[in-house]
Amino acid sequence: MKEALERRLSILRQRLSDSGIDALLIMDPLNRVYISGFRGSAGDLLVTADGAWLLTDFRYVEAATGEAPCFEVLRCGPKPEEKPFLDHVRDILSSRNINRLSFEAAAVTYKQYETLKTACEGVELQPSEGIVEGLRVVKDEGEISLIRKAVALAEEAYKATLPLVKPGVSEREIALELEILMRRKGAEGAAFDFIVAAGERGALPHGLASDRLIREGDMVVLDFGARYQGYHSDMTRTVFVGGATERQQTVYEVVLRAQEAALDRVRPGVTGAEVDAAARDIIEAAGYGANFGHGTGHGVGLNIHEGPRLSRTGSEEELQAGMVVTVEPGIYIPGWGGVRIEDTVLVTSGGCEVLCRTGKGLTII
Ligand code: GLY
Ligand code: MN
Ligand code: MN
Repeated sequence: MKEALERRLSILRQRLSDSGIDALLIMDPLNRVYISGFRGSAGDLLVTADGAWLLTDFRYVEAATGEAPCFEVLRCGPKPEEKPFLDHVRDILSSRNINRLSFEAAAVTYKQYETLKTACEGVELQPSEGIVEGLRVVKDEGEISLIRKAVALAEEAYKATLPLVKPGVSEREIALELEILMRRKGAEGAAFDFIVAAGERGALPHGLASDRLIREGDMVVLDFGARYQGYHSDMTRTVFVGGATERQQTVYEVVLRAQEAALDRVRPGVTGAEVDAAARDIIEAAGYGANFGHGTGHGVGLNIHEGPRLSRTGSEEELQAGMVVTVEPGIYIPGWGGVRIEDTVLVTSGGCEVLCRTGKGLTII
């Protein structure tokens, strides 16, 4: 782990130097975890060409010292033996004659910005965007193995929960069982609030599990994932209770074809928009274009939704080996129901490896 953290810090420093940044304040919690390794709930980083500091409070000094081997841990606070966060930042900058400080525009509130400006009078504040996020999109071996584990935990729980998808059981009960089983097997928690959407509720792309009871003839969308050592998995399966009508089968087959076409398209050098088009073309050709209103996928890692985006707009970025993305087309028909099929996949040099092993054939329970 130490080697990976050293590598990340050194790549970050290279980026800072390429961008003319003398000092970067990292206040986004996930960026802080990625760069330092420290996973506590409070802590910020300051990185310069020759120094790296982790600023936290009394509660986390010991944990941070253990988890963040490349950082000098500084205790912040109002007590005599401590120094307030902003005083630490100001003193570090002035001791190095640094008069420009870059901060993460998306992570700093207006109030924090104002306080920073007052405390660091004479220092030019430069907003920056996507510096650490840009490094996070390509995963290293350690991250990939944690995501694999998060996928395996979700799949084991899903397999064991499927028999519960039967008439009379509520969506909420199914979601709860999925989460309990994942956690029992070692997950830190659910990757997000699970979606269990039966029958007409399947038309809500993000229909959180409710008290609705499963009924004979329902199509049920289950969207779930696990979090393991900070890393997420994300998958969706749509199953049928007691049987599948012709229309249900038709819609399911269109979504499955779209998903497989998109998976076939995933490889280095292809843009997110091209992967999206592979799925969307099939759904549009089948006459359901208006029923597929979201993007085809997103990156997964320390965050459940992160770069790169696989969607029509804003996805001109090319995929690279080591990215982990979801592929998740769907069709949603108000008042009738919906189908989504989602896998978490690893972009490899020759295409992609689908990390989810659970079959996608028509599943009737
Ligand atoms: N679980 C939300 C999504 O699939 O993106
Ligand atoms: Mn999902
Ligand atoms: Mn997803």
